[in-house]
Amino acid sequence: MLQPHTTKTVAATKPTVAILGAGAIGMLVYKQLSEFTQPILLGRDLIKEHALTFEPFSKEATSETQIIEGMMCDVNTITHTQLASVSLIIVCVKSYQVTHAIRPLIDNLPQQCTLLLLHNGMGPHLDTLTLLAQHQRDDINLYLGTTSQAALKCNKLHVRQTGTGKTMLGHFKGKKLTEKQLALLTQAIPDCHVSEDIRLALWQKLVINCAINPLTAIEQCRNGQLAKPQYQARIDNIIDECIMVANADGVMLSKQVMVENVYQVIALTANNYSSMHQDIAHQRQTEIHQINGYVTSRAKYHHIATPVNDQLVDDVSSL
Ligand code: PAF
Repeated sequence: MLQPHTTKTVAATKPTVAILGAGAIGMLVYKQLSEFTQPILLGRDLIKEHALTFEPFSKEATSETQIIEGMMCDVNTITHTQLASVSLIIVCVKSYQVTHAIRPLIDNLPQQCTLLLLHNGMGPHLDTLTLLAQHQRDDINLYLGTTSQAALKCNKLHVRQTGTGKTMLGHFKGKKLTEKQLALLTQAIPDCHVSEDIRLALWQKLVINCAINPLTAIEQCRNGQLAKPQYQARIDNIIDECIMVANADGVMLSKQVMVENVYQVIALTANNYSSMHQDIAHQRQTEIHQINGYVTSRAKYHHIATPVNDQLVDDVSSL
């Protein structure tokens, strides 16, 4: 059992874990890991002297802000030497940014380092494999993961946790993480589990995102509104199409479990705005092509019709 550390015990430790991406989830995971180890946060324009502030999840209007002292570094200037002790990099950027974020680091990654991709949607793991091959980095191991934790980046260095939820991770390519590395992840990140079949876990989360994200973006509503009967038929159709495509891809999903999962997340995150709703509200690029778009592209490959998901991709793309 790993023990949460005190500030004293970490002061001289070299980082073995890096978090790539100082967005809401990246900062949240960094904070959670900082209680057990000294991670390094890699982001754009971050400097050593920066400190993160964190508001824990609370149902009350306000909660006490904590200061997280730690290591931060600009992703574009970090050197091979600074990365030398790192054996695990958790990539917490948007799905469409994954390869772009890894590229500046790739030649400086220590031998046998593991990348854990933690994002919504599917697809970037295949682009990552191509990128690793192009750079002759076949020694780099790959884990995939998904999280239903929710957080809001209030400003560059301030993050608020807005929801709790399950995190799943699993092996995809190369060597497996050690027991110690897995223990660190599963103890530091609440409700974090290792899946023996990460493709199944990713598809299960993909279905949740396919149902919630585009509808909340189009309807400009909180997740909880989707519990209303008027959305039931559309949600049902989205789930049916996803299940057909997943099955064709060799991943068997149960309709009953998927419906239960979707409505459970709608209830648990009722007050939240989905990430896609927030992307549209802030006029940022969305993950529609890695969420419903991944389903429609796999559907085309298998010659399966997915009119409801096709329409959602079109609707969100035109917002
Ligand atoms: O993308 C999101 O917002 C989240 O993954 C989820 C689970 C849909 C909750 O808002």
